[in-house]
Amino acid sequence: MTAFRAFRVEKTEDRQFPRSIVERDVAELPDGDLLVDVEFSSLNYKDGLSATGNPGVTRNFPHTPGIDAAGTVVESSSSDFAPGDAVIAIGFDLGMNTPGGFGQRIRIPAGWAIPLPDGLDARSSMILGTAGFTAALCVHKLEGAGMRPDGGPVLVTGATGGVGSIAVKLLAHLGYEVHAVTGKASSHDFLRSLGAREILSREDASKGVDRPLLKPRWGGAVDTVGGPILFNAIKALRYGASLAACGLVASPEIPATVFPFILRHVNLLGVDSVELPLAQKAEIWNKLAGPWKLDRLDELAEPLTLDTLSGAIDRILAGQMVGRGVVDLNG
Ligand SMILES: NC(=O)c1ccc[n+]([C@@H]2O[C@H](COP(=O)([O-])OP(=O)(O)OC[C@H]3O[C@@H](n4cnc5c(N)ncnc54)[C@H](OP(=O)(O)O)[C@@H]3O)[C@@H](O)[C@H]2O)c1
Repeated sequence: MTAFRAFRVEKTEDRQFPRSIVERDVAELPDGDLLVDVEFSSLNYKDGLSATGNPGVTRNFPHTPGIDAAGTVVESSSSDFAPGDAVIAIGFDLGMNTPGGFGQRIRIPAGWAIPLPDGLDARSSMILGTAGFTAALCVHKLEGAGMRPDGGPVLVTGATGGVGSIAVKLLAHLGYEVHAVTGKASSHDFLRSLGAREILSREDASKGVDRPLLKPRWGGAVDTVGGPILFNAIKALRYGASLAACGLVASPEIPATVFPFILRHVNLLGVDSVELPLAQKAEIWNKLAGPWKLDRLDELAEPLTLDTLSGAIDRILAGQMVGRGVVDLNG
């Protein structure tokens, strides 16, 4: 089979970005070491940015987004992979300016692929996807900076979203007391089912923005939103604790002073899942397949197909998704 189905975004002269499902041929894919038959992908906020023409994500149209893909190698010119190997590809340029996982076939450099670890199947790896990987990377980095379950509650912002929901579940799994910030009053039960002990509204998390410091509460924090909520969380870190910053759905800005850093000895940790070297990516995936393996992942998955993706893209951009959208390429 050389023809395959793909979700495609065009760019019109008046800067509209219409979406459709098209038939493509593998001959149209870029050069690369591996041709992969994609079985599952997932929907991330960045895919929403790509599908609406955000130039920081995608410049070349027509384009097939999808920063995540899991599937089977069909052709390989690399000695590291053979036809039939199950692989995961996330990050690097996949779905940005390289046709991504919202197509049934991708062609990628071997250096973008990781063997699917024992302990995960293609679908569960994509319930995690970039969002789950990033949540785990945040926790990994926070623990590397000294975070421990007895160090106080850990705050997660944007908690019902992809990164947030998996961060809540993973931290609870590892024995942390998780406090979750959400804008969705209807999703408190969902967050409790993931293991959140306490739930704060976005308004609660935004209180005291004018104060240089807040009462120390958090033994660590995972922030997916940026802006005042991020810096409020830093101001309420306990002495020496850390916050991992990975997102910007509220704002790319940090309204900051140096006070928490010079008076509370706290750390702001940057987290990037895209260009992280492959060996470090594999280490995190192996944790997610082993000691950090999460049960009942299906409870946070919303099944999607190429035909239902467009509506879900609108919802993720509006901050309305709950959990993870998992795309079945053959659904
Ligand atoms: N650094 C990296 O490598 C990396 C990797 C993955 C993702 N990210 C970034 O992380 C962020 C989250 O990605 P995602 O895929 O998890 O997106 P998502 O599923 O849309 O989750 C984001 C969540 O943030 C909350 N939110 C939305 N708008 C908000 C606002 N204006 N103010 C405060 N909270 C708001 C919502 O949760 P509640 O309703 O529960 O508040 C929403 O569900 C994005 O900025 C993404 O680009 C970065």
